[in-house]
Amino acid sequence: MKKITIAIDGYSSTGKSTIAKQLAKAFGYVYVDTGAMYRAVTLFAMRNGFIGQDSENLQPLVKLLSRIKLAFKYNDTLGYSEMYLNGENVEKEIRSLEVSKHVSRIAEIEQVRHMLVDMQKKMGAEKGIVMDGRDIGTVVFPDAELKIFMTASPEKRAYRRYKELLDKGESVDYEDVLKNVQYRDKIDSSREFSPLRLAEDAIQFDNSDMGLDEQFERMYNFALRVIDKQ
Ligand code: DC
Repeated sequence: MKKITIAIDGYSSTGKSTIAKQLAKAFGYVYVDTGAMYRAVTLFAMRNGFIGQDSENLQPLVKLLSRIKLAFKYNDTLGYSEMYLNGENVEKEIRSLEVSKHVSRIAEIEQVRHMLVDMQKKMGAEKGIVMDGRDIGTVVFPDAELKIFMTASPEKRAYRRYKELLDKGESVDYEDVLKNVQYRDKIDSSREFSPLRLAEDAIQFDNSDMGLDEQFERMYNFALRVIDKQ
C-alpha cells in the first residue's frame, strides 16, 4: 500500500499527540511530536539563563543553536519515542508547566523555526509519517495527503492538561493552566513566522464533546479513504 503523510495541527491540548500516536500505530507509520522539539530548545534556553521568570535575552540562544542536538529515541517499554537533548533524556522535564510558560516565546524565533522545520522535512522525506504541531500542514508538509486541524474549547483543553499534570505529580492550579492555554493560543496564532492557521485543504475537527474511541474511528476512516485513493 502506498504511504502517505498525515499532518495534524491545532491548538494546544486538543489531543493531537493522542490521535497521532494511535494513527501511527494503526498504519505502522513513524510518529513525530514537533512540540517536543520546541520544548527541548526552550529547556536549553532556560538552563542557560536565556529565558526565565522575569528575564529574557534570546540573542545568545540564536548564536548557540548549532550546539543543540535533538533526537527521538524509541522506548520499547513505553511504546513511543522520547526526546533527547544533547544525549540526555528530557522527556519528563519538557512537559512541565515551566517549559509550557516559555515555549511560545522560543517558537516565535525565526532561526529556531528554520532549524526545526528543516529537521522535520528530512524526517518525513520517505512519507509513512504522522507529524503533529502548529505548522505541519501549512509549512512543513504543504503537500501532505491528509491534513487535520484540531480544536476544542479553551476550558476543556485546560481541564485535560490540568488532569494530565496532576497525574504526573505536578502541583498545579486549574486557573494557571487555563491562563497558559489562552496565552499560548494568542501567541501561537499571532506570531509573525508560520503562525497557527487552518490550511485550506485541512479537515477541521472539534473534539470538545467527543470520546477517544469515536475520535479514533472517524480519523482512521478519513485516513483509510485517502490511502485507498493513492
Ligand atoms: O504541542 P505542544 O503544546 O507540545 O507545543 C508546544 C509549543 O510549541 C506550542 O505552544 C507552540 C510551539 N509549536 C510550534 O510553534 N510549532 C510546532 N510545529 C509545534 C509546536
